[in-house]
Amino acid sequence: MAEHLHLPVLLNETLQLLEPKSDGIFVDATLGLGGHAEAILNIANNIKVIGIDQDTEAIAHARKRLRKFGDRITIVHSNFIDIKEVLKASGQTQVDGILADLGVSSLQFDSGQRGFSFRFDAPLDMRMDADSGDPTAAQMLAEFSEEEIANIIYQYGEERFSRRIARRIVWKREIGEPITTTAELAEAVEKSVKRNPKDKIHPATRTFQALRIAVNREIEILEQFLIDSVDSLKNEGRLAVITFHSLEDRIVKQTLQKLSGKCFCPPRIPQCMCGAVRRVEILTRKPTVPTESEMRENPRSRSAKLRAIRKLS
Ligand SMILES: C[S@@+](CC[C@H](N)C(=O)[O-])C[C@H]1O[C@@H](n2cnc3c(N)ncnc32)[C@H](O)[C@@H]1O
Ligand SMILES: [Zn+2]
Repeated sequence: MAEHLHLPVLLNETLQLLEPKSDGIFVDATLGLGGHAEAILNIANNIKVIGIDQDTEAIAHARKRLRKFGDRITIVHSNFIDIKEVLKASGQTQVDGILADLGVSSLQFDSGQRGFSFRFDAPLDMRMDADSGDPTAAQMLAEFSEEEIANIIYQYGEERFSRRIARRIVWKREIGEPITTTAELAEAVEKSVKRNPKDKIHPATRTFQALRIAVNREIEILEQFLIDSVDSLKNEGRLAVITFHSLEDRIVKQTLQKLSGKCFCPPRIPQCMCGAVRRVEILTRKPTVPTESEMRENPRSRSAKLRAIRKLS
């Protein structure tokens, strides 16, 4: 794997917003290869980090990288939706800061076997937690209705040709050739879309993104995770979240706004019914984005957006 792929995204900006302090305890909810966690642990020699990841391969990498920090790092194989249980089990209830750098890691995306990318022919799996027993992308394509598949590709991939792609996937299934590999899916997409010569990305990019989000329930769990994270912060504690596509960013933006007291009730309602209560201060009025030079150095950072809050006393 090329060295630049290991670079943690928006690192300085994240540290500035998270403000890790001496003696603090932090959760890295998406430990990945451990880049952000390492930087946090390096700030002071009594900082502790609890790192969560649902991918055992990522955990093995991070474990090696962070071994030098001894018992200052605790690594937990779990889904971050269970952050409260993870904290309880490690004897903590509230922490000074929480970071989530969402989406897939370069380790996952550049793996030839996990099925995240059409760049490698592999079984269509796409589960970040390969031990979970949850359905793989291939199983979803084998079992979901044509309409459900089209909706996933449309909503999570913002793909104009979602219906035609879903039609082809289901037709392949009907003729006894169900789609089970990345190459077969990429081909089905290519045969269904009208290629726009101005399009810089591969036509299958949006469909692969959509399936990955569905397989890992990435959008479904995000709001609850943010709420549970704010519950898990001490007063004045901070939460920083990095997203990589507009759907995710919209949920993060709206959930944090709601937690800052903004009412999302329909107009003309006499009294707020959405439960907006001011619990946090938003530290990023506009999301922080990478500098030109970071984007050049680390192409994965290009779509990154960072938002952060401080919990009010
Ligand atoms: C973008 S990478 C994080 C990279 C990391 N910040 C670094 O510096 O190396 C995202 C990681 O989060 C993990 N992940 C994504 N969603 C998760 C979830 N719901 N629960 C636990 N881990 C998750 C993925 O397995 C992946 O390893
Ligand atoms: Zn309201």
